[in-house]
Order: sequence, then C-alpha cells, then structure tokens
Amino acid sequence: MTQRISVIGTGYLGTTHAVCMAELGFEVVGMDVDTEKITKLSQGYVPFYEPDLEPLLRKHVESGRLRLTSSYAEVADFGDVHFICVGTPQRKGEFAADVSYVEDVVEGLAPHLRRQCLLVGKSTVPVGTADHLAQRVAELAPAGAAAELAWNPEFLREGFAVEDTLKPDRLVIGVSSDHAEQVLREVYAEQIAAGTPFLVTNYATAELSKVAANAFLATKISFINAMAELCEHAGGDVTMLADAIGYDDRIGRKFLNSGIGFGGGCLPKDIRAFMARAGELGADQALTFLREVDAINIRRRTRTVDMARECCDGSFVGKRVAVLGAAFKPNSDDVRDSPALNVAGLIQLQGAQVSVYDPKAMTNASRYFPTLDYADSIKAACGGAHVVLHLTEWREFRDIDPVQLGEVVAQRYVVDGRNALDVGRWEAAGWTYRGLGRGVVS
Ligand code: UDX
Repeated sequence: MTQRISVIGTGYLGTTHAVCMAELGFEVVGMDVDTEKITKLSQGYVPFYEPDLEPLLRKHVESGRLRLTSSYAEVADFGDVHFICVGTPQRKGEFAADVSYVEDVVEGLAPHLRRQCLLVGKSTVPVGTADHLAQRVAELAPAGAAAELAWNPEFLREGFAVEDTLKPDRLVIGVSSDHAEQVLREVYAEQIAAGTPFLVTNYATAELSKVAANAFLATKISFINAMAELCEHAGGDVTMLADAIGYDDRIGRKFLNSGIGFGGGCLPKDIRAFMARAGELGADQALTFLREVDAINIRRRTRTVDMARECCDGSFVGKRVAVLGAAFKPNSDDVRDSPALNVAGLIQLQGAQVSVYDPKAMTNASRYFPTLDYADSIKAACGGAHVVLHLTEWREFRDIDPVQLGEVVAQRYVVDGRNALDVGRWEAAGWTYRGLGRGVVS
C-alpha cells in the first residue's frame, strides 16, 4: 500500500516537501494553523520566492494530489506518515532555539492519532528533542505504540529547495524501530533506488547531523573571511587565496566565497542554538570556537560599513549610498538576518541616505526595514550615489554595465561585498573598486 503523506507547517521547508512528495507520486495533505497561508497555497500561490516551486504546486493542487487544510483531525485521519516541518527560531534575547512550534504540533496532532502511523520530524532541533517528543507521542496518542516517531533532518538550500528535496545528497533518519526504518525506506524508495546514501541511526545522531553540517558550513565561510581580514592587512587577494587552497580536494572550493558573510534563517541561529545546547549538555567547551565563527561573521558587516565610509571621505553625513541586494543570498526573497540589510541599516544610522534595490526581496525588505529608501531599479537606486555597495550576488548585478551606471552616480566608487563583480570591467569604466579581503586591488 502506498503511504499517504501529511506535511505539517507550510513555510519554506514544508511547502517544498509537500509539493515534492506529490511530485514523487504520493497523495499529500499540507497543514498549517495559518489559514491565510493555506488559502493562498490552495489557490496555487507560494507566499515566498523559490525557483520552480510555484508551477509544481499548481500542478499538484490542480490534479488533486496535494490538498491543504488547517485541521489536525483531518491530517490524523488521512496520513500514514506525518512530516513535521515547522520553524525553530532563535529565542528572543537568548542563543537557544525556540522549539515550541514543534511541541505544539505534537500536542495538537497526537491526541487524534488512532491508527498506525509514523511522525517524522524534519525541523532543525536541539539534540534530545526527539527523545522528549517520542515520550509525548506515547503519552498522548490513542493508538499507543502504533504511533511512532522518527527524525529525518532536512538539508535543503533556499534557491535550490526543489532540487535538493527531489535529489538530496544524502538521507539521514533517526529511528527507534525497524518498522520506522521500513516505512521511510518506502517513502524514499525512488531516491534510494537512484543511489542516494541512506543513513539509518539513532535520534541524537540524526538531530546532530543537521546542526553539525550547518556549523561546518558557517566555519568554512568564517575561515575564509578571517583570511580576508589578513589579506586586507598583508596586501593579499582572498579570492585568489580561496582558489589556491580550494584546488586541494581535501579542502574544496565550495563555500569559500568571502564577503559580507553568512545570514539567513538557518546558519546564524543554528550555530547559536548549537552552542546553547552544548552548554546545557555540559559540553560547552566543544563549541566555543563557534563564538569566534559568529564574531568573524559580524565583523565583516562592520568592515563593509567602514570601507563604504572611506569612499565617502570619512563621513556618511549628507551622502547618498546605493545598496544593491537585500536578500540574504541570491535567488531568494528571504531577508532574515540579511547581511545586506544589516549593512544598509548601519550606514543609514550614521547619517547617509540609503537607497536599496533587490530583484525579489523588496516587499520583505520594506516590511522588516521600513525606514530605508527603496528604489525600483538599479539605476534609480544608484542615482546621485557617492558609493555603490554590491551586497547580494544576483546575476542581474554581475551583468551591470559599469560604463552606463557610471553616468548616474555622483562618484564612481563601488564596494563589492560579495567579491563577484568583474574588477577589470569596473576599473576600465573609471570606477574605484573595493573588494573585501582584496588588499592588492586599487
Ligand atoms: C543553509 C544550508 O546550506 C542548508 O544545507 C541548510 O539546510 C539550511 O541552511 P541556506 O540558509 O539556504 O542553507 O543558505 P546557504 O546557501 O547555505 O547560504 C548561507 C549564507 O552563507 C548566505 O548568506 C550566503 O550568502 C553565505 N555564503 C555562502 C557565503 O558568504 N559564502 C559562501 O561561500 C557560501
């Protein structure tokens, strides 16, 4: 019998997972307590920008393979496998993760579970959460031991969410029974047949594999950004340095792009929650290096502000600054902990008039940072600017003609916060180019 799937939580993770499960041929119900989101999704609209997702959502809503609801009772009645995909944001004023949304799902769903089923957590949680939730399921579910829990962390990247879900690098499942493993082998049969590594482990290892991966990625970025600091002092070029070390395939060139650092809804909060959890477990020394990773990352933002100020003769007062990019990375409209907006905000506080343009993130940016000015094109953002800051590496910005843009600015200074512009082209067009970690560039 084909498993019937429910997906609880319809944010980035849940919407993508629900749509991709339908694409893999399953009957799926997506559930969220936010009825507005459910209405939008039922009409075929994804409430955020993610390439390829909306056409697939429409396809499966229209075919009836994907339905949406706000009712736990309906989900419990329908599903054999319930994926939990709600958020675990950073707690206000603390490093620790807020797992209350995950707990709410278990408290809301479990009392309706009257037949055999498997709950599968995909949310990023502090290690130990699954153990605790398994106990709650046992206490609350009328089905008793027939309602089980597994943990199956999600590694998808925004901007590549559909591809990462349909063709993951690996699948990791934390289970407490052979039956749970069997169910998940059926769910992921297509990926397993295609050769995707399938790792079966306990809850703790599964939970840790997600945060450990994100901690490693964050460390890799901060490592190259620390090298950028050195290059600035020593007269080196960090992009060439990254190439030079990246050819060693033990190191690898991926995730060695230096610039204004990492942001988004995952890496910053995940490394902080990881440190907090290590402290609770009495292993805080193991992760103290992540404090430094976080500090290096934040320092890149202030360094970018300093560079921009230098281009404005040492003071932002009365100056116009153009900021190209608001999303935390390209191909996304996500502005959570966006380094670009953080830099824009800091510069505005120091007296400049800041004008921001982003191809997709304008609505989100103006909602979260309403006091910045928003322009509707690159040209409009850069009009009369004393310095142009390139802070999110959209293709559209790499394709800018620096000769034409040079005609609208007050002075030709560009700070490349992503080390992604073609230095030669910009300098040939009369611009003074400043890249982070590029001490040798004029
Ligand atoms: C990340 C993980 O990659 C993913 O596996 C996990 O499931 C969720 O968190 P995501 O937040 O979508 O995914 O973004 P990612 O592509 O990892 O980029 C994170 C941040 O690092 C971005 O702000 C990006 O601009 C920055 N980054 C990335 C760099 O500064 N340099 C790099 O070389 C790579």
